Amino acid sequence: MKMMVRYQSRGGNTKVVAEAIAKAVGMTAETIDNPITEPVDLLVVGGGVYAWGLDQSLKIFLENLDPAMVKEVAAFTSAGGNEQDERYSGYCARKRDQRQ
Ligand SMILES: Cc1cc2nc3c(=O)[nH]c(=O)nc-3n(C[C@H](O)[C@H](O)[C@H](O)COP(=O)(O)O)c2cc1C
Repeated sequence: MKMMVRYQSRGGNTKVVAEAIAKAVGMTAETIDNPITEPVDLLVVGGGVYAWGLDQSLKIFLENLDPAMVKEVAAFTSAGGNEQDERYSGYCARKRDQRQ
């Protein structure tokens, strides 16, 4: 199965996530500045959330995806601030403690 990982990142958070995903499947993550030039079965693509929305460059990238070139898309985002991070990590910690 042919797979690619693309990301949009202003501050680097989404880049870290994209690189972790790509590393897990033995490939390299590239920015959305690199267009899809060959057919792929699965495109993993992500970006940050800014003022309740996606970066314009990512919207354009997604809108211009060619269904003849990209069979399936798996999308991810990175979002939120410290408060949300703490809520999320607190939730995970409570779930972990409940299992023990
Ligand atoms: C200008 C700006 C606006 C943001 N707006 C939101 C938002 O509306 N909702 C949210 O959950 N996070 C928001 N965030 C947090 C980012 O989504 C988060 O830091 C994300 O990981 C940024 O990704 P990046 O580092 O790859 O650019 C905002 C961050 C910035 C800098």
